[in-house]
Amino acid sequence: MTMREKLDLLERRIAESEQGGGAERIKAQHAKGKLSARERLDALLDEGSFVELDRFVTHRSSDFGLDAQRPYGDGVVTGFGRIDGRLVYVFSQDFTVYGGSLSETHAEKICKVMDLAVRNGAPMIGLNDSGGARIQEGVVSLGGYADIFLRNTMASGVIPQVSAILGPCAGGAVYSPAITDFVFMTRGTSYMFVTGPNVVKTVTHEDVTMEQLGGADTHGGTSGVSHFTSSSELECLDGIRRLMAFLPSNNVDTPPRGAGRDPRDRRDESLRGVVPDNANKPYDMHEVLKRIVDDGDFLEVQADFAQNIICGFAHLGAFSVGVIANQPAVLAGVLDINASMKAARFIRFCDAFNIPIVTFEDVPGFLPGLAQEHGGIIRHGAKLLYAYCEATVPKLTVITRKAYGGAYDVMSSKHIRGDYNVAWPTAEVAVMGPKGAVEILFRKEIAEASDPVAATDQRVAEYTEKFANPYIAAARGFVDDIIDPADTRPRLIEALESLQGKRDRNPPKKHGNIPL
Ligand code: HXC
Repeated sequence: MTMREKLDLLERRIAESEQGGGAERIKAQHAKGKLSARERLDALLDEGSFVELDRFVTHRSSDFGLDAQRPYGDGVVTGFGRIDGRLVYVFSQDFTVYGGSLSETHAEKICKVMDLAVRNGAPMIGLNDSGGARIQEGVVSLGGYADIFLRNTMASGVIPQVSAILGPCAGGAVYSPAITDFVFMTRGTSYMFVTGPNVVKTVTHEDVTMEQLGGADTHGGTSGVSHFTSSSELECLDGIRRLMAFLPSNNVDTPPRGAGRDPRDRRDESLRGVVPDNANKPYDMHEVLKRIVDDGDFLEVQADFAQNIICGFAHLGAFSVGVIANQPAVLAGVLDINASMKAARFIRFCDAFNIPIVTFEDVPGFLPGLAQEHGGIIRHGAKLLYAYCEATVPKLTVITRKAYGGAYDVMSSKHIRGDYNVAWPTAEVAVMGPKGAVEILFRKEIAEASDPVAATDQRVAEYTEKFANPYIAAARGFVDDIIDPADTRPRLIEALESLQGKRDRNPPKKHGNIPL
């Protein structure tokens, strides 16, 4: 063979490898509103930056007629590329080849890029579209999944791991994403379940649709399995690029800086009017956040789940920060099971990846009641406490209004190593709200009063005057300062700047025992 002939052969084989399961199956994929595995990579990565590995790998199985078809690539496209010029490793499963199912070799390809990502300190992004373990390969494919789970776990806290779910994903195809840091889903085309509606019908006799069982809104709003929900694949892939702008490449890297266009000393006097005069009136904490962060740009994580707490990424004075904020507009911002779990996981991510944590606090306490107690609010609330306590990244706290009870301690208080804690003049820092406190402390006196309502009002007024303010906490040094809300942005940025050299560590141990 001449060189020309050899090159022609190579070209033909490359072209064949790019066909996946063939034109018909790619057409069927498009008809469902889905992109092909390669189109997805094109949309995710900087133009022309993708370098493919293992395009000629084929499966080694012969059972159930598999030997008749050995498509190049074996149902997954793997390699590396760039997002905004920064290196990432990727895999993109190809549903047109055996339903994107995971064979021994398909798993080996994924493991190879995961190992490279860890070795080179770059994020790992998986685009999942897979029916799970390749049934014809049996235990060999199960072993492949276990190899991936182990790598997901070893890489956790070392490199950011992101999963997009872009098709019907079952079995192992959901457990690997569940170990990763962030899960993206698309409405109407992506599903995650341990097993699908047919098996559910047989086992539990429940009639459920794919959407109800494991659609994007189910996991974005009810189960909390996913973190971002998009209306299309392109929006989803763009969302991954946006997330990457806040994350460092690995756990010894510093997070990328923002554009820094928004002036660091920008004050905002409209913040003085956000908290209503009446302490029982709600307001939207998003209004506070968008006025403070750079360019009002806030990337919310799990926006539809446990909306009584807000988590997300922003830049402040170009520093990347993780924001946790109670949301008084939903359930008065109370801490319940879901809110505690959501925020705890987010805090641990930020701490693992050197992203400072900025907390905005307006919380009446933990949610009481039978359902919460039986559901384990003690155990789950303890997760949030644990996560804040163990975090050693810079921790900044702004108390906008209520900081009551255990929630005062939990929300990044000074006592659990808050670095810079300030309160607005509207802050109320006490064991509980005035009404509840008076009913406990003066129950007998009120019962015996000739006018119980007037007696209550008087005691409430006294308590409010004495405790529903930030000055007692400030007198103790439990808040570092009481500030004009208009100054919040410049004060936080100055504090962040001062904490750039922060060194803090926890005692050496194998690992702690977070109350899971
Ligand atoms: C081999 C598979 C496959 C699989 C799908 N295909 N899943 N081949 N192994 N796991 C093939 C189909 O045979 C079909 O091939 C093609 O992919 C497309 O599948 P369809 O069923 O036609 O597509 P659709 O109707 O969209 O349904 C998709 C699906 C369904 C919901 C994913 O295929 C399905 O339920 N698959 C099985 C899911 C599952 O139970 N997997 C094992 C999980 S156990 P042809 O040639 O006919 O087009 C597991 C263990 C891990 O993963 C351990 C976890 C801890």
